[in-house]
Amino acid sequence: MERMNRQILLNKRPKGFPDESAFKLIEKETPEPADDQVLVKAHYLSVDPYMRGRMSEAKSYAEPFEVGQPLKGGAVGEVIKSNHLDFLAGDFVTGLLDWADHTAVEGQSLRKIHPDAAPITTALYIAGMPGLTAYFGLLYIGQPQAGETVVISGAAGAVGMVVGQIAKMKGCRVVGIAGSEEKVNYLKKELNFDAVINYKESENISKALKEVVPGGVDIYFDNVGGEISDAVLLRLNFHARVVLCGQIAHYNDEKKEMGVRVLPYLLTRSVLLKGFIVRDYRDYFDEGMRDLAKWLNEGKIQYRENIVEGLENAPDAFLGLFRGDNIGKQLVKVS
Ligand SMILES: NC(=O)c1ccc[n+]([C@@H]2O[C@H](COP(=O)([O-])OP(=O)(O)OC[C@H]3O[C@@H](n4cnc5c(N)ncnc54)[C@H](OP(=O)(O)O)[C@@H]3O)[C@@H](O)[C@H]2O)c1
Repeated sequence: MERMNRQILLNKRPKGFPDESAFKLIEKETPEPADDQVLVKAHYLSVDPYMRGRMSEAKSYAEPFEVGQPLKGGAVGEVIKSNHLDFLAGDFVTGLLDWADHTAVEGQSLRKIHPDAAPITTALYIAGMPGLTAYFGLLYIGQPQAGETVVISGAAGAVGMVVGQIAKMKGCRVVGIAGSEEKVNYLKKELNFDAVINYKESENISKALKEVVPGGVDIYFDNVGGEISDAVLLRLNFHARVVLCGQIAHYNDEKKEMGVRVLPYLLTRSVLLKGFIVRDYRDYFDEGMRDLAKWLNEGKIQYRENIVEGLENAPDAFLGLFRGDNIGKQLVKVS
């Protein structure tokens, strides 16, 4: 075990679009696990948009990070030392770990994973939070029916590309909205999306959307919000469902944005609009993990990871989520 432990701290609370000054890399002695704790060496960190909310002081479903303390996020790693009955050195685990080489963490907060069964990174994607978000958002809220049209914003991201593939499996017509030609080509050619709009190249998203969804939208899976959603919400069909998953276009807002007032339109079309946090469905996680693993093994869903090497590059990988650097799941390989 290395004596020194690198950690990335929240240096200050960012205002607006964050930059590297929000983070600080330090070295401290590697902690000793207390009773019932284990010491975990991180192998991969998950870099997630919701962490932006935790960097601010505003109250939300997750506690704010503390200034001067390590950031924390989903991770997979290896137990180095265990003071917990359920874990032995050499076990692979997933849970919330510091952005650090090592974390001393309560054993009960961890779940064992089996590197022989699947690559360990799948615990952070298809068999983890983003895969389950796609699964429950689309199937439990969206309730897709064959022949329906599903529009997905943030379509080439971790959640979006899984939503699209499940919707295709259910016999839907799938339209993605994403921010580069590379993403458009990937979704169309590799994942068989029926149409994809590059919103960064489109002068008028409403017009572009009208061309690809002439029959309107039955399900809108929203990862983004902002002007993209303004355009999609006005094309919803009678009894459409809006799955409110993420609003990344607003995470760096310094003042509240006023978009189109859509509620009268939604009312007269009997639209269901439902926000959710994936953990709302925790009682059903086993079902979601079982189905996702089965579809993966059967080749019915594919996944793509964007892996940045080195703990020191985790802040830039995080900032890249807001620049649109990633196709699929953004991960950091720690060492
Ligand atoms: N409700 C839940 O429980 C839950 C769970 C997980 C994730 N989420 C949310 O779901 C969304 C997707 O998460 P993810 O992990 O799959 O992230 P992700 O989509 O892999 O990464 C973020 C992507 O968002 C797009 N983006 C960034 N800023 C944007 C903007 N201003 N306007 C439009 N698009 C923008 C970028 O792609 P482009 O190149 O296309 O712009 C970027 O690659 C996020 O909003 C996240 O907060 C919610």
